Amino acid sequence: MSNIITVIPGDGIGPEVAEAVLDILNEAGASLDYEHRSAGVGAVATHGSPLPQETVDSIERNRVALKGPLATPSGSGFRSVNVAIRKTFDLFANVRPVRTILPGGRYDDIDLVLIRENTEGLYVGVEHFIGMDRDPKAAAESVMITTRYGSERIVRFAFDYAVANGRGKVTLAHKANILKHTQGLFLDVGKRIAADYADRVAFEDRIIDATAMYLVLDPYRFDLLVMENMFGDILSDLMAGLVGGLGFAPAGNIGEGHAVFEAVHGSAPDIAGQGVANPTGLLLSACLLLDHVGQEDVAARIRTAVTSVIRSAAARTRDMGGTDTTASFAAAVKGALA
Ligand code: NAI
Repeated sequence: MSNIITVIPGDGIGPEVAEAVLDILNEAGASLDYEHRSAGVGAVATHGSPLPQETVDSIERNRVALKGPLATPSGSGFRSVNVAIRKTFDLFANVRPVRTILPGGRYDDIDLVLIRENTEGLYVGVEHFIGMDRDPKAAAESVMITTRYGSERIVRFAFDYAVANGRGKVTLAHKANILKHTQGLFLDVGKRIAADYADRVAFEDRIIDATAMYLVLDPYRFDLLVMENMFGDILSDLMAGLVGGLGFAPAGNIGEGHAVFEAVHGSAPDIAGQGVANPTGLLLSACLLLDHVGQEDVAARIRTAVTSVIRSAAARTRDMGGTDTTASFAAAVKGALA
């Protein structure tokens, strides 16, 4: 049965990489129909809003979306549309698998998954300035929110993901030694839920700073990591760095009823419009989408093709040290599909 998905090409390099990805999906025989919708800076010009209602309605209806990067103005202007989409559909789990594709980096065979809580923590954005004397910004205060409900559902999601994907160990990274209430609650919940899976998945907890160090020194000691929102944001970029950078990193934002898949990278304004962007991040995100809708076989064929093209240097974009354009790279991946 064909799945209808919402496609949001996005800003900057988004339309270029989205076109390449849809081209490869079609060649690979993905059974998907596409409903194109806009969001981001481009949508402000065409629809008067960075997140038009018809885009929200489309995701609501189709339940699955493939999204390109959306530019967010820093400091002033509209708030992040990415965050708005995660909030609207309560996409509480951010899943970021990290695998070595391009050899010759610091490590050659990284295969890790980070699961980040996507709705709580400091990123709820409850913060304000405190004025003193004549300085209205003498101090600033931010509130970290951790709920038992939010902690339980993300840790359970992580264990269920580990079981479904043959992952043998879950590491819960935290800072409960300092943040005894917020991170303490997260850790307590984690330990309790780990007991339910003790016969199937090993569990350890580790302080976040030591986790960062060991990820760089000896990433093989990890398998699947779960953590709160901001720690996950930072460490997932660190992990992308272990495998050659943002161009290769896919992500899925998963909720109870909806899922939005996107590359980890942004709109790359410095190279937008040049046709040289690496489409691998969005392509691997589309593979996660295919897994999600039960087309694992198509996803596996695409992963094999893109890996062999990059490893054999049959085609590489500029960020990989090659000279290929987005289109010629996509053509090589299509040619390598078995
Ligand atoms: P960025 O990820 O867009 O770019 C960082 C560097 O990586 C740039 O040099 C860029 O050329 C390069 N790069 C990124 N993706 C690439 C690709 N596929 N192929 C080749 N090179 C690539 O991060 P930046 O510059 O901090 O953010 C630009 C905009 O993107 C901002 O408005 C930001 O808010 C937005 N953004 C959106 C995200 C999303 O929609 N999920 C995530 C991150 C940033």
